[in-house]
Amino acid sequence: MRLVLVGPPGAGKGTQAERLAERLDIPHISTGDLFRANLRDETPLGVEAKRYMDAGELVPDTVTVGMVRDRLAQPDAAKGFLLDGFPRTVTQAEALSGLLAEIGDELDAVVEFVVPEDELVQRLLGRGRSDDTEDVIRRRQQVYREETSPLLDFYRDRLLTVDAVGTVDEITNRVFEVLPDRR
Ligand code: AP5
Repeated sequence: MRLVLVGPPGAGKGTQAERLAERLDIPHISTGDLFRANLRDETPLGVEAKRYMDAGELVPDTVTVGMVRDRLAQPDAAKGFLLDGFPRTVTQAEALSGLLAEIGDELDAVVEFVVPEDELVQRLLGRGRSDDTEDVIRRRQQVYREETSPLLDFYRDRLLTVDAVGTVDEITNRVFEVLPDRR
């Protein structure tokens, strides 16, 4: 199974991705987590990403695509993967299609999480990660609307939309109800 989760900041992508990846027995690949790991390790990639993340802006596509290419080349991704937070621009989506075409494959599904904006802000303020200040959250939401939401049209032939308001268990069940039956 090759899956992508799309949704605005705070929609629950990371929360659901962990559960879904475990049940599907595929790696959970979060670009946000990869950037934060680089930041902790003070790698040049992490240092470059930091200024974008702190401002709620997207890290440039070339940097992000290169990082994902390396991660997908690792052996555990051969059996499938769940991408969380990537792609986030049409350019990234085109690059992903190209990477998959090289191995004669394509995505099985793109799952969109839908949550009202006010609830997103409350969830993130409650969590308090360093990029969860109100100004940065609003900027991340704006970036989502402007740069990421065009993906919904890009992926219209494989897009599955899930109401992501409810308990974590309810939402996991909703995702499994709509996923194609391909393990
Ligand atoms: P990233 O780490 O991907 O952050 P994000 O998309 O802003 O998403 P979040 O982690 O904030 O939210 P989420 O949807 O995963 O929700 P979560 O499960 O955590 O990206 C951070 C930054 O990295 C970006 O701003 C950018 O700079 C850079 N970046 C990353 N990918 C990039 C890319 N592809 N290109 C360029 N730059 C990139 O849940 C949020 C909170 O809600 C938690 O407290 C959780 O407990 C709670 N919650 C979850 N589910 C529920 C529920 N059902 N009800 C109530 N609360 C819930």
